[in-house]
Amino acid sequence: MRGNMKLRGDKIRLITLLGMIINLVRISSASVVSSGDFNKDFFVMWSPSHVNTSSDGRTRSLILDKDTGAGFASNEMFLFGQIDMQIKLIPGYSAGTVLAFYLSSDQPNRDEIDFEFLGNVTGQPYILQTNVYSDGFDNREERIYLWFDPTEDFHNYSILWNLHQIVFSVDSIPIRTFRNHADKGVAFPRWQPMSIKATLWNGDSWATRGGKDKVDWSKSPFIVSFANYTIDSCIWRGNPRFCRSNSPGNWWNWEDFSSLTPIQKRWFKWVRRYHMIYDYCQDNERFQGNLPKECSLPKY
Ligand SMILES: *[C@@H]1O[C@H](CO)[C@@H](O)[C@H](O)[C@H]1NC(C)=O
Repeated sequence: MRGNMKLRGDKIRLITLLGMIINLVRISSASVVSSGDFNKDFFVMWSPSHVNTSSDGRTRSLILDKDTGAGFASNEMFLFGQIDMQIKLIPGYSAGTVLAFYLSSDQPNRDEIDFEFLGNVTGQPYILQTNVYSDGFDNREERIYLWFDPTEDFHNYSILWNLHQIVFSVDSIPIRTFRNHADKGVAFPRWQPMSIKATLWNGDSWATRGGKDKVDWSKSPFIVSFANYTIDSCIWRGNPRFCRSNSPGNWWNWEDFSSLTPIQKRWFKWVRRYHMIYDYCQDNERFQGNLPKECSLPKY
């Protein structure tokens, strides 16, 4: 009895020790790059006058007015990993505005993973549109209404991207997946490194009620704020092998992250049942009965 208990105690200590070692390896590997300082990890792509960064670099905002919008992008490019960004959207009247938070390879046959927030008139809901480009092919829009007001507080928007799947999450709730079905002929983003971008612009030709509600410049400036991001991703150094490996640092490639967990599946179904308003995979009219191949393949 005593002996057994001692053995169990030793076992628990051993497991704890192993856990600590695994964590140490994770921290010491070169993949984790987030400093939390916008000035260190990102550069201003356009309109520096419309980008405000707090003095400690921990928060940043983009401004859209009659003159211009603005955007910033990561200094590094990445191949696989997880990116989290907290965003607070434009309060009040935001019709016609688009805030895009996305990964893009910027190649002619580009890969891209997009969050697009479509503003609305005062009191009406934002739409969160997501899209995936692989090898230059897109037309994969999905749209949801969020289950909270995204203009009131910061919320976390994240992209998990590995060899098996892409998962879009909002406050840790998976709203969309895009599985790697390359073996069935569906291109999957897995060769081109991507940079992280955020841009705020006038999209009033299409964004709100199909372009019916326009930007009202008398309500400008329109301001979107960003905070508390983490980039836990493989920095591109010219060789995909390092990022594709299952090394301890590349935790996102581990088996545990190859599909949704049972709890994630429940949330995923909840979002799609109660909050989804458009799914390209249901749009037979648009594709004239020829829905893209991935529409008939498993999502997790
Ligand atoms: C804006 O509000 C209208 C009316 O509630 C709604 O139909 C629309 O989906 C909302 N969002 C956008 C971006 O158009």
